[in-house]
Amino acid sequence: MKKDIENRTDIYLLVKAFYVKLMNDDLMRHFFLEFNKPDLLEEHLQTLVDFWDNILFYSGGYRKNAMQPHLVLHQNKPISKEYFNAWLSMFNATIDELFEGEMAHAAKSRALSIAIVMEIKISELNK
Ligand code: HEM
Repeated sequence: MKKDIENRTDIYLLVKAFYVKLMNDDLMRHFFLEFNKPDLLEEHLQTLVDFWDNILFYSGGYRKNAMQPHLVLHQNKPISKEYFNAWLSMFNATIDELFEGEMAHAAKSRALSIAIVMEIKISELNK
């Protein structure tokens, strides 16, 4: 039986393992080249820990707008549907490899809703 996601240490393990997957994936790695610099990767992972800690445990530690950087990213590197699908399937796979329980389930379901909203906002840019 795997444990559930309980704290920031767990979230760090999750986002770190997730980024190892993304950065080693032929389809996805081009989005994440800046994070080949270890300092930038660590800083980004800390932002992601704040983000998920806020979503899952209402920590209040993430106050930025997570949508905006993706709208900018999309201008240079279009984020089409196949990328969202790959992102989600790797995120879900990482969670399932490491955790199970209510919070693990909540993280997958929140990621899906946020990805759907992100995709809609991106599709509106192209109109
Ligand atoms: C194919 C889909 C996605 C790609 C290619 C992608 C890529 C990226 C990249 C390259 C950054 C760094 C941007 C920067 O610092 O300028 C970033 C930041 C971030 N991403 Fe994504 N992302 C995707 C989907 C998502 C989804 C669905 C979520 C949430 C569930 C998410 C959450 C975040 C957060 C919280 C940040 C940090 C934003 C900040 O600096 O405050 N991403 N993403």
